[in-house]
Amino acid sequence: MSATLRQAAAEILRKNDRSGYTVPTHGLYPFQWSWDSAITALGWLKLDETRAWQECETMFRGQWANGMLPHILFHKNAASYFPGPDVWGGESHPVPSSAISQPPVWATAVRILYNSAADRSLADRVLRDLLPKLVAYHRWWYRERDPEGTGLVCSYHPWESGMDNSPAWDQPLSNVPEVDWTYHRRDLSHVDSDQRPKKPEYDRYLFLVDFYKRHEFNSRYIYEHCPYKVLDIGIISTLHRASQDLLHLCELANPPDDVTDIDMYMARTGDAIGTLWSEQSRCFLSHDVLTNEPLDEITTATVLPLLGGLASEEQAEAMAALIRDWIDATPFALSSTHPSSPRYESQRYWRGPVWLHINWLIALGLERYGKQELAVKLREAARDCVLSAGLWEYFDAESGAGCGGDDFSWTAAIALHWLDA
Ligand code: GLC
Repeated sequence: MSATLRQAAAEILRKNDRSGYTVPTHGLYPFQWSWDSAITALGWLKLDETRAWQECETMFRGQWANGMLPHILFHKNAASYFPGPDVWGGESHPVPSSAISQPPVWATAVRILYNSAADRSLADRVLRDLLPKLVAYHRWWYRERDPEGTGLVCSYHPWESGMDNSPAWDQPLSNVPEVDWTYHRRDLSHVDSDQRPKKPEYDRYLFLVDFYKRHEFNSRYIYEHCPYKVLDIGIISTLHRASQDLLHLCELANPPDDVTDIDMYMARTGDAIGTLWSEQSRCFLSHDVLTNEPLDEITTATVLPLLGGLASEEQAEAMAALIRDWIDATPFALSSTHPSSPRYESQRYWRGPVWLHINWLIALGLERYGKQELAVKLREAARDCVLSAGLWEYFDAESGAGCGGDDFSWTAAIALHWLDA
């Protein structure tokens, strides 16, 4: 990567730094988002190790007493964002927050930080503090989102997947009622409406937000009655991978207590994951719990079991073949939705555009299965995106043009952490 790009990436992180946490981008996303922050910490590691650890510490200050790590921490008021903490009902927490989580990549990021840190005493000190919080977070997923011990955790909101308007969620979302109150979206004043979700989807997103609040976040009630319940293969895979990283960290530092329960949960996931495999699609599919139907849509989430080591050798081979064909069809790295889908749109958010951090996670998965060459191919393709367009939120899958917010933190972080390798 060129020195100019490296410098541009560093400048973006500095510009988006709000003392202790990094906003994804100015204007559109003015707070701390969970998985953005974990990935952004990897970028900080290249610039300022202390600041990288601080990113983690600030995030975990917003952890709920039950272990949940919210997807947004509203450190300050910002009129430019909707829905804020009052709509979520998360105002009374240590840091006002949303009421859902996001793909749990934290332990994976912390393991990378810990392995690479030069200041060992700082790394040891922060890890000692973070470890019980990470353990509580993973237990929250297994306990609250899989109370029947099936091995597969359940997601209650498309936003929780981090892949907000993926076509995989169209069918389960269509069973959610629309809100009957009016509201004013703020995202459309920052980004062209062709690149953002549509109103019927937004009405349903808000119904769900309201549903948790009306039922006072009662996890039993929500588990039994939430009108949106999805086994999201992206969350299941990132959680499984992060649990491996967490157990590894527990071996290095003193765990808060006996963590064999995490091993047990992981074994259950290993036993159950086969039910999500689709021979025809050559990948794992998410699943609608309420209709008991697979969500037949090939998205970048559907090959993430590679990251968690959840695939057999044959399944990994089939997914690698799928990825090879896919990258030939979308040369600027893997599009969020497979281009053969009738619902694919090259520039609409999670319905087609290329997201670099996802390509990085898939490349990690490919490496894990010895598919080095393909991992390198993804990296080269991702590098082409930033070299031609700059450090945007996401990229048009066909033209490679930058879309969404510009000067984007996780794209800058991935450039520093992965593309500069
Ligand atoms: C959007 C993305 C989500 C991300 C957030 C902040 O909501 O879908 O994955 O965390 O923006 O960048």
